[in-house]
Amino acid sequence: MTDEAKPIRVALLGCGTVGTEVARLLTEQADELTARIGRPVELAGIAVRRNNKPRPGVPAELLTTDAEGLVGSDVDLVVEVIGGIEPTRTLLLSALNAGKSVVTANKALLAEHGGELFTAADASGADLYFEAAVAGAIPLLRPLRESLAGDRINRVIGIVNGTTNYILSSMSATGAGYSEALEEASRLGYAEADPTADVDGFDAAAKAAILASLAFHTRVTASQVHREGIAQVSASDIASATQINRVVKLLCICERVTDEDGSESVAVRVHPAMIPKSHPLASVGGAFNAVFVEADAAGQLMFYGQGAGGAPTASAVLGDLVAVARNMVLGGLGPRESAYADLPARTMGQTPTRYHVSLDVADVAGVLAQVATIFAEHDVSIAAVRQQGRAEDASLVIVTHGAPDAALRSTVDKVAGLAAVREVVSVMRVEGDD
Ligand code: NDP
Ligand code: HSE
Repeated sequence: MTDEAKPIRVALLGCGTVGTEVARLLTEQADELTARIGRPVELAGIAVRRNNKPRPGVPAELLTTDAEGLVGSDVDLVVEVIGGIEPTRTLLLSALNAGKSVVTANKALLAEHGGELFTAADASGADLYFEAAVAGAIPLLRPLRESLAGDRINRVIGIVNGTTNYILSSMSATGAGYSEALEEASRLGYAEADPTADVDGFDAAAKAAILASLAFHTRVTASQVHREGIAQVSASDIASATQINRVVKLLCICERVTDEDGSESVAVRVHPAMIPKSHPLASVGGAFNAVFVEADAAGQLMFYGQGAGGAPTASAVLGDLVAVARNMVLGGLGPRESAYADLPARTMGQTPTRYHVSLDVADVAGVLAQVATIFAEHDVSIAAVRQQGRAEDASLVIVTHGAPDAALRSTVDKVAGLAAVREVVSVMRVEGDD
């Protein structure tokens, strides 16, 4: 058999929401993939956990529960869509150590053990591609790794979790309850196997770590990302946002922070925030994702599209598969890890943020002055204040200017202790211009 006729043998690990679509596209588009790569691609086997459930459209003879055996067999390339840390870490290290290139959608693994995987890939001269790990179908990591490699990125901000965006969009547009919206997101295949990964922000934090690592040429792990999920977002928060012409979104924010002495650090965080309705991210609804990148020379770039779901994610996996297979055919390698800058991570307490605080207060003389004094004592400047209602219904809404997050937190704690403050109704960060 000539080299051009010799198939590139692919091991597919996982055949769930994403894996099923990868198998389908690999089979249905076999001829086109051959033409694009220059050699045929052959699905050599599909590893699953249980081989006793119906899988329509998946060739039964390819299924195995022996993932380790499949990786160790005569395959050239491993596609991993199982998810989680183990056994995937061991399986992928075993593939890379044997010089087999890897395509993965596994953000959780990359955000914790990316360094180890890149080192193994470098040592054996294999490729490690992971476009599907962040923002599903959206081509985002390749632009960061390649197209913007000559620029200096200062900020990456976006909506990178489809499940929470689906839930928040439903809650604000239709008044749907939290559980109802989550159930629907799971049914549509957006949610992780354990949806707490989505709603508690772990999924977005893993993606933030990957984005920050690429943007700032620094190894950032998920544990260095400040993380808050959407479980605490209440109907009051959503109503408060509407009153000031804003919407609530779960944001991933990766920033390069330069101090007065010129030293640089990275601040990486995931939390809900109120953004103006006029902000382009405000109109990103359902399971869609969108990411803004701000770079010195390129200026502002926005990437938008389907961030979750079987077929959209499989599109990104197949794109990586074609890139890796082409590298094999042409005898080259894709981009390696770039972590030379090695910037320190900034704590959330030191990171400048802005707050929106809604207080239920007694309508007595001097309340506003007492509250304002506490803000001033903490060096937190107030951007806007609004008092609504009288007597039992009196409420005070305060929007701050930027201040270190720790100062804002202490301010709210102190204000909550005032006798005239009946309840702190809503506290949420705000992002974007007024
Ligand atoms: P699923 O839970 O739908 O599928 C997981 C698959 O892995 C199943 O086929 C399961 O087998 C198999 N599996 C689990 N454990 C093992 C094991 N020990 N050995 C062999 N096979 C195993 O996950 P998804 O398809 O949703 O996600 C896969 C990956 O893609 C994850 O890393 C996820 O974060 C990522 N991703 C998912 C997106 C989405 O929208 N769903 C979007 C972007 C990325 P069985 O079928 O027998 O249970
Ligand atoms: N559960 C993830 C989400 C899948 O909802 O965005 C895509 O990574």
